[in-house]
Amino acid sequence: MNFDIETYLNERRNFVNSYLEELYEKQPNSTQSLLKSILYSLTSGGKRLRPILCMASCELFSGEYKKAIGVASAIEMVHTYSLIHDDLPSMDDDNVRRGKPSNHIKFGESTAILAGDALLADAFSLINNELQFQGFNPELSLKIISVLSNAIGSKGMVLGQAMDLYFEGKNEVNIETLSKIHYLKTGALIEASILIGGYIGDADNNEIETLRKFSRKIGLSFQISDDILDITGSESFGKNTGSDAKKNKKTFASVLGIESSHDLVQSLTEEALGELSDLKKEFNPLHGIAIYLSERAK
Ligand code: IPE
Ligand code: IPE
Ligand code: MG
Ligand code: MG
Ligand code: MG
Repeated sequence: MNFDIETYLNERRNFVNSYLEELYEKQPNSTQSLLKSILYSLTSGGKRLRPILCMASCELFSGEYKKAIGVASAIEMVHTYSLIHDDLPSMDDDNVRRGKPSNHIKFGESTAILAGDALLADAFSLINNELQFQGFNPELSLKIISVLSNAIGSKGMVLGQAMDLYFEGKNEVNIETLSKIHYLKTGALIEASILIGGYIGDADNNEIETLRKFSRKIGLSFQISDDILDITGSESFGKNTGSDAKKNKKTFASVLGIESSHDLVQSLTEEALGELSDLKKEFNPLHGIAIYLSERAK
């Protein structure tokens, strides 16, 4: 099959962008600063990796990706909330995001915090509406809500963010601790995106376990690339480089060095691709996406 990953990613990204743009456009009172702030971050670019992974995983088992768009977009809303809060002065204190002033620089801290809060709650409301609209059975709906909420709460992404902040400036951070932080702050949402796509596409339990193994490797590799890019990234990266060093955060790149971090991205990707071979699918978009991601920090 002829598969051009750039075309595929562009098409899927545009699909997500159109869906997200419409979502809040329909809402009245869109001149309020809260809504402006939500739209500012939600429609300001971004790779849309998590919704693309979610739809790809759905497509892998059902041959269709469009039925996952609502839930996939809700996952992007959760991700966007996490970025708005991650940039706050009390967290990473970053003033550039996706090539533009961070949300709190543009709208002030209180509005940025509220925009993040609203996106998180609105995401679950969207999932609820979408699951009813699509006629998914209640068991599937509850599964999706449980997978997502577990991935992002005090045992998942938020714990990862708390550990990331706790270990700032501490020298005892080793690779094991860093792997745990990376899994929680970044990997858990990536894993949930892929698993939820699988559930919507009707993957069976064995297939879900294979997706989980794949996701864990990809999630870690993705954050290692992000750490490398924090040192080596160009302006097209859309964030200020040197942010981790400024906050004295230990990262894979600072602990292992850039070369070894690159090697680790490659070996994790190869292991992840190995996991996918268990699925015995002729065409697997997750394969192409994993390779594409492994090359982004090169
Ligand atoms: C940035 O995520 C935060 C991390 C978890 C590394 P992305 O690199 O996916 O950011 P966008 O959505 O493309 O801006
Ligand atoms: C962010 O990790 C993870 C979350 C937002 C949950 P980083 O702090 O490394 O992300 P960037 O580099 O600011 O995008
Ligand atoms: Mg951070
Ligand atoms: Mg950050
Ligand atoms: Mg980073």
